[in-house]
Amino acid sequence: MRKKIIAGNWKMHKTPAEAVQLVNELKVKVVNIHHVDMIVCPPYLAIPAVQASLKETAIRVGAQNVFWEDQGAYTGEISAPMLVNAGCSYVIIGHSERRQYFHETDETINRKIKKALEFQLKPIFCIGETLEQREAGQTFPVLKTQLDGGLAGIDAAAIQNIVIAYEPVWAIGTGRNATPEQAQEAHQFIRSTLAEKFGRPIADGLRIQYGGSVKPENAEALLSQPDVDGALVGGASLKADSFADIIQAAENLSKQ
Ligand code: 13P
Repeated sequence: MRKKIIAGNWKMHKTPAEAVQLVNELKVKVVNIHHVDMIVCPPYLAIPAVQASLKETAIRVGAQNVFWEDQGAYTGEISAPMLVNAGCSYVIIGHSERRQYFHETDETINRKIKKALEFQLKPIFCIGETLEQREAGQTFPVLKTQLDGGLAGIDAAAIQNIVIAYEPVWAIGTGRNATPEQAQEAHQFIRSTLAEKFGRPIADGLRIQYGGSVKPENAEALLSQPDVDGALVGGASLKADSFADIIQAAENLSKQ
């Protein structure tokens, strides 16, 4: 059985002091979680303090982005070895906000994924369709194009270090989550596409998170879908109570 994986994407929220306060509250709430991988992804500046606070806990730290070169004249960027040095073990790559506001493409996302893997950082690779694309019946072709482009040149060994996050753009920050059936349909399509690329046994071992307005009230229904292996949580990860409740929902399902 695939171990469920719940990650919090804090986006551009929280100073280092606020971040430490949040993880200090969170870590005591999840001491009894043993069947779920837990990750928080703070803004870069808060990563060292969060990492220090989470030492000796099961919660891992991720970044929200990475650049594709190791070092050099790239003003404003942060490299994979820098993230590893700061204690990160995951990195979100290709989030729709980065595609939309920072013009990331499948090709640059692919470069970032390869660089992260080179430094043993596990990518959380985000894909998802816009409302327009869904309404035009383009959801599956869009997902396929994003998978083909983002995973170009990735082999069967490397893919096993990647987590896929299906985040329909219309569900992000809108309060309107995909229904469990919509999520399952997309996840099943993603897994069958991965099976074509890497073979069924490997695809069956890969974890696919759902993201988009996940909250304690809908977590259990989404996470109980057969191909939904976790959640990438935005707004509800900014409060210890709601994030811990989502983690607990995943734990309860995993223990059954
Ligand atoms: P919300 O949970 O706030 O909708 O954000 C989802 C998301 O974008 C996580 O990466």
